[in-house]
Amino acid sequence: MNKLTRVVVTGGAGYIGSHVVLALGEAGYDVLTYDNLSTGNRDAILSGELVVGDLADKDLLIKTLTEFNPAAVLHFAASIEVGESVSNPLKYYRNNSVNALNLLEALRVTEIGQMIFSSTAAVYGNPTQLPVTEEASLQPINPYGASKLMTERFLSDLALANDDFRYIALRYFNVAGADPETRLGQDYANPTHLITRALKTALGIFPQLQIFGTDYPTQDGTCIRDYIHVADLAQAHLDALRYLTSGHSSTIFNCGYGHGFSVNAVVSMAKKVTGVDFPVVETDRREGDPAALIAGCERIRKDLDWRPRFDDLEVILHTAWEWEKKLATRDA
Ligand code: UFG
Repeated sequence: MNKLTRVVVTGGAGYIGSHVVLALGEAGYDVLTYDNLSTGNRDAILSGELVVGDLADKDLLIKTLTEFNPAAVLHFAASIEVGESVSNPLKYYRNNSVNALNLLEALRVTEIGQMIFSSTAAVYGNPTQLPVTEEASLQPINPYGASKLMTERFLSDLALANDDFRYIALRYFNVAGADPETRLGQDYANPTHLITRALKTALGIFPQLQIFGTDYPTQDGTCIRDYIHVADLAQAHLDALRYLTSGHSSTIFNCGYGHGFSVNAVVSMAKKVTGVDFPVVETDRREGDPAALIAGCERIRKDLDWRPRFDDLEVILHTAWEWEKKLATRDA
C-alpha cells in the first residue's frame, strides 16, 4: 500500500468530516476515522474504517496512528457552536485547543509530519475590511474562535521549530448544504445553524425560526455570512491534501465564495425552496455574533486551483432540503 494514500480523519463521523471521508474514499484514499461519536454518527462514515476513540485518550491515539501509519491527518473533531462557546468556554478550550495539542503530541511521537486543520472564519472576529483576507488581524470575539486560533498558533510554532512538520489550516466560513446525492448531510440532535433551523421549521419540527438581531450595521439589519456548500469544502480538503503531500510549505486558506447573504435573504430563499411560509420571529442579538463575514478567497482559487461547483444559495438550500426531508422520513 502506498503510504501517501493513507489518511486519518478525526471527527470523520461529523457533518463536514463525513463529507470529506466520502470524497477521500471516492478519490481512492484509504481512510481511518477516529471519532468519539459524541456528536457524529457511525452511519455517516461511508468509506474506510472507524476507531471509536477520544482525542483525550493519547494512548489509543498513538496506537491507532502507529498501526495505520497515515501520510497525513485531517483534524475535524471539535465543538462548533459560537453561542455555546460563550456560555461554556472551558468546553471549547478543552475540546478544541487541549485536544488538538494531544493530537499534535501524538503526531510527533509517531513521526507523522502533515496535517490539515479545520479552522474557522471566527478567528477574525469583527473584521474591519470585507472581504476578509488571510492576512487580516486575528481578533476573535468568542471562545470558539479563540480556541481555534490557539490551535493555529500551535501549528505555526510547531512547523517553525521542525522542518519535518507541515500543515494547512482551512478557515471555513459558513458551511451549509448536503451531499448532492443525498447520502449525507447535517445530523445533530440540537442543530443551531441558521439553514438547518430554517428547514426544520419548514418541516414543522420547530414551531418558529428566530432571527437573532435586526439592528446590525448591514443593509437589512441582519447578519451577513458567506455560505459555502459542504461538497465544495470537501473538494478544498482534497486539493489541500494534494498540495501538502506534494511538498508545499505550511499555509492558511480561507474557504468561502467571496460574497455573503443576510439572515433575511437566507430565510426568503428557504421559504422559496421549501414552498412553506414558516413562522419567523425577530429577537435580540445572539452573543458572540459578528455583523458580517465574507471570505477573501483569491488565495485558495489560485494556489489550490480550487473550483467550486455549488456557489449558489438556492442549490445550497435545495440539497439541504432534500436531506432534511430524508431525515424526517427516517425519524418518523
Ligand atoms: N441565526 C439566526 N437564527 C438561528 C440561527 C442563526 O438568526 O436560529 C443567525 C446567527 O445569529 C448568525 C447567522 O444566522 O447571524 C448564522 O448563524 P449560524 O449559527 O448558522 O452560523 P455562525 O455564523 O454562528 O457560525 C458558523 C460556524 C462557525 C464559523 C462561522 C464562520 O458554526 O464554525 O460560521 O462564519 F466560525
